[in-house]
Amino acid sequence: MDIRHRRLRESESIRRLTRETRISAESLILPIFLKDMSGGPSPIRTLPGHFHHSPLCVPDVVEQSVEEGVNKFLLFGLPQSKDERGSAAWDEDGVVQRGLRALRARFHGITLVTDVCLCAYTTNGHCGHVKNGRIDNDGTLDTLSRVAVSHASAGADIVAPSDMMDGRIAAMRRALDADGFVNTLILSYAVKYASAFYEPFRDASDSAPAHGDRRTYQMDFHNRKEALKEAHKDAAEGADILMVKPALAYLDIIAALAAETNLPLAAYSVSGEYAMIKAAAAAGFIDEYRVMCESATAVFRAGAGILISYHARELAAAIKKGDIG
Ligand code: PBG
Repeated sequence: MDIRHRRLRESESIRRLTRETRISAESLILPIFLKDMSGGPSPIRTLPGHFHHSPLCVPDVVEQSVEEGVNKFLLFGLPQSKDERGSAAWDEDGVVQRGLRALRARFHGITLVTDVCLCAYTTNGHCGHVKNGRIDNDGTLDTLSRVAVSHASAGADIVAPSDMMDGRIAAMRRALDADGFVNTLILSYAVKYASAFYEPFRDASDSAPAHGDRRTYQMDFHNRKEALKEAHKDAAEGADILMVKPALAYLDIIAALAAETNLPLAAYSVSGEYAMIKAAAAAGFIDEYRVMCESATAVFRAGAGILISYHARELAAAIKKGDIG
C-alpha cells in the first residue's frame, strides 16, 4: 500500500491534532529591564519593543503581559551608580529589590525570576570580582550569594545566576537555606557560551566589560561535552532548573542535555536572536511573525521545556491563535 504522508497534512484540524511539539504560554518567561531612574518607560534602542522600566512603572508592563497570557518574568537591573564591588547589586533599596517589592505588593500568582550577576553593577563590567587583572572566582561566591539572598528576601521566587563562576550554585544554595529561603529555586545559567549574540543586551543593560572579554568564564562555542559537564556539576550542586544560552545556535546542546538530565530544562533566546529577527523584518527581508513562531518551536522541539524570550508576549498571542502550540 502506498504510504501517503500528505493525508496527515490535508486539513488544519488534523495538522494540529498530530503536532509533535506542544507549547503553552505557561512555558514562557519575559525578560524585563529595571532601571533606577525617574519617569519612563524609555525605549531600548537595541531591543525594539522593549523598554527600561522604573520600579514605580514596572507593574504596568507586568499587568499588560499577564493579560496577554505571560505571567513569568526575568528581571535585570540597571543601578544608578556602579562601584568596583558592585554593591548596588545587594542593596536592600537596589533597583531590582524595589521592583520586586512593587510587583509582590500588586500581583498574586506571577513568577519572578532575577538575574544574579555583577556585570551591570561593577565599574569594570565583569561578572565576577577582578583581582590583579584576573577574575577572582572564589572571592566572588560570597558576593553572589549575598545578591541572591537579597533578591529572595525582596520577593524573588527563583534566582538565576548568570555569572558562570565555578561553585556558585552550591554557595548560593547554602546561603539561601541558612537564611530560611529553602523554597527559593535556583535556575542555573548552566551552559552559557561566550557569545556575540549578547551584544544588544550589553547595550540594554550597560554591562559591557571595560577591559578584556568573558572568555575565561563563559564557554567556548566549539565545545559540547564541556556543556554536559557544566550542567551535571550544577545539578549536583543543587540547581533546580538548568538553562542553555543562547538558544538557536545551540539546539544540539539543548537536545543533548534534554536526553541526559532529569531537571527541567530552559533555553534563553537571547538579545541577538531577537534583534536579528527585528532588524531583518524591519528591512522587509523576512516575516517577523512566522520566523518568530518557527524559531521558538524549534527550541521546544529540541527538548527545552521553558523558553526565555523577548518575543514572549507575541508568542503567547500566536499560541492563543493556534498558529503554534
Ligand atoms: C549577565 C547576562 C548577560 C545576558 C544575561 N545575563 C550578558 C553576558 O553574559 O554578557 C545576556 C542576555 C541576552 O543577550 O539577552 N551576565
